[in-house]
Amino acid sequence: MQATTVRYQVRPMDVGDISQVMEIERESFLNMWPTTAFKRELKHNRLARYLVAVEQREGAEEAVAPLAESEPKEEPVPPVHLGRWLGELKRLFGSEEEVEASREPIVGFVGIWLTLDEAHIVTIAVRESHRGRGIGELLLIAAIALATLNDQDIVTLEVRASNQAAQALYEKYGFKKVGVRHRYYSDNHEDAVIMTTDSIHAAPYRELCQRLRQEHRERCGDYELNFY
Ligand SMILES: CC(C)(COP(=O)(O)OP(=O)(O)OC[C@H]1O[C@@H](n2cnc3c(N)ncnc32)[C@H](O)[C@@H]1OP(=O)(O)O)[C@@H](O)C(=O)NCCC(=O)NCCS
Repeated sequence: MQATTVRYQVRPMDVGDISQVMEIERESFLNMWPTTAFKRELKHNRLARYLVAVEQREGAEEAVAPLAESEPKEEPVPPVHLGRWLGELKRLFGSEEEVEASREPIVGFVGIWLTLDEAHIVTIAVRESHRGRGIGELLLIAAIALATLNDQDIVTLEVRASNQAAQALYEKYGFKKVGVRHRYYSDNHEDAVIMTTDSIHAAPYRELCQRLRQEHRERCGDYELNFY
């Protein structure tokens, strides 16, 4: 994988991002989610958190607070609670018409459902032209960090049996194959492999993530995680 100095920001998905997210969806999945499904998820599913990775425009790098040179000891702490409240108000009351289409270049997205103790990754995809640059890994790093902040114990997902690239990504982050849902996908009746982490709060898992995040930052450059 090639090293790059381009920096990315991960932030919550908004209704204005959906047109770009649909472009990525179209080139990533046989069975696409319709626009309405994303709108419903963003507006009405209280368990759901959707994040997008945004490529920083050239010259805009100074606007993003740089992270410390060395790997932070703890998972990122979200900004002040005011940001969370504003985000919630926007989710609840912002009409679609009020939200302008996002003009920032979105290069990937991930969707996570947070339950009592188990975070479930429901979707993850990277723009085809941007694959192989560490963005899928960045989105997974963000999903695990979000799960950690929300006191989830494990992270789970389902992946097509034939999707070797995605399985390699998950295995890198300690996901293990724990079961199969036979003929799970309606388009081609392919099996789904169920993959799950150990406890994300256990020391060995935290150490694995810290090491991988450090390596990712050295290889792919700095990024900012903003969950609210
Ligand atoms: C799966 C996907 C999200 C990976 O995103 P990406 O940005 O290309 O992946 P990264 O560059 O971050 O790679 C991270 C790791 O993933 C694995 N990986 C990524 N592409 C791979 C490939 N073509 N073959 C094998 N492993 C691959 C490797 O383990 C890699 O780590 P490494 O660089 O140390 O080898 C991307 O291929 C995608 O959007 N696919 C279509 C949608 C999809 O299948 N989503 C998964 C649904 S479960």
